[in-house]
Amino acid sequence: MNRFFKILGYALGVLLLFALAAAAYINSKGIPTYKFAPPAAVLTLKVPPDSTMIARGAKLATLLCTECHKGEGGKMTGRFMPDMPKDLAPAYSLNITHDSVHGIGTWTDGELYYFLRTGIRKDGSWSPPFMPKFPLMADEDVKSVIAWLRSDDPVLFADSHEFPPNEWNFLVKLLSNIAFTPPPLPEETISIPDRTNKIAFGKYVADALCGCYACHSADFTKQDALNPEKSLGFYGGGNPLLNYEGELVPSSNITMDKETGIGGWTQQQFLEATKYGKNPKGGPLYFPMFPHTTLTDTEVNAVWAYLQTVPPIRNQVQRYKPKD
Ligand code: HEC
Ligand code: HEC
Repeated sequence: MNRFFKILGYALGVLLLFALAAAAYINSKGIPTYKFAPPAAVLTLKVPPDSTMIARGAKLATLLCTECHKGEGGKMTGRFMPDMPKDLAPAYSLNITHDSVHGIGTWTDGELYYFLRTGIRKDGSWSPPFMPKFPLMADEDVKSVIAWLRSDDPVLFADSHEFPPNEWNFLVKLLSNIAFTPPPLPEETISIPDRTNKIAFGKYVADALCGCYACHSADFTKQDALNPEKSLGFYGGGNPLLNYEGELVPSSNITMDKETGIGGWTQQQFLEATKYGKNPKGGPLYFPMFPHTTLTDTEVNAVWAYLQTVPPIRNQVQRYKPKD
């Protein structure tokens, strides 16, 4: 028996050494870099300053960008992010104003397009999961976001406010080496589904555009960005999200399960919750859920129609209660 434990001890010792060596390697290697390799059509992309596209981009930005990138006075100078998972923090969102030194004034449209799709910058560095990637967004919507980024919206005026580059901790480095990789560029043009096809259009709004599923599935680290429906606990809630104070605000189960989800809700209650942040039981819905006021009723009702097709999950989520 003694001999057995001795061998076991040696084996564990060797394993531990391997683990330590691997950890030291990942810690010094950091987040992997990738080849900046957009095809010619992306590299030479020029988004016209078209007013309809800018307006669409501004709407998308309120849904997708401004909450994370707004600094003091609402300008897009970036901010400290106490609402990011504690074991991955600290993190800062960066300056995306027109400033050519501190912001993104010198980025080309193609570089922005490639970055929004994949998270890869011109120098090959890769932005870890805090900055979302948009692999399923329609081409015209990605271009509209770029048209907005270039526009004369005052929140984007050049501003030299700067945060130092993010220094990622070991866990972010580890996950970026083993779990997260840049999504590939779509091989074909992605179009916005026809609005009359409610379910397909609702799926686009919910999964590809607003990323409702990302917050509303079980865990950010167990998601499939290319096939959202393969994410763990798809729309079943319980994702341990944080507010600005760093308090836990678990996401709700918004599958149609009658008891633990929103299967007993009316379409109108859903619309008011999604658009205006109203809890049908009274009071507000708490951050990081935010009122999606720029979504049209048609869009929200399409999401409602789509959610009817998502398999219900039985999962009772403990609601956030603010301290009084
Ligand atoms: C959940 C928060 C979050 C959201 C939402 C978000 N970002 Fe970011 N963004 C970040 C963080 C954090 C970084 C810095 C990542 C890093 O250090 O690599 C970043 C980096 C960037 C950068 C790179 C800046 C640089 O100098 O390298 C650009 C460009 C950008 N975001 C644009 C956008 C746009 C456009 C949207 C909306 C379509 C958006 N972001 C939505 C958090 C967010
Ligand atoms: C940034 C993360 C995040 C995103 C994105 C998000 N939600 Fe939420 N949502 C939450 C959280 C957290 C709650 C719980 C809030 C609370 O308990 O007050 C919630 C609550 C809800 C509720 C209320 C459910 C209930 O039982 O009271 C609905 C409905 C909802 N979200 C729909 C949506 C839809 C539709 C989208 C996409 C258009 C979306 N959410 C996007 C985080 C998010």
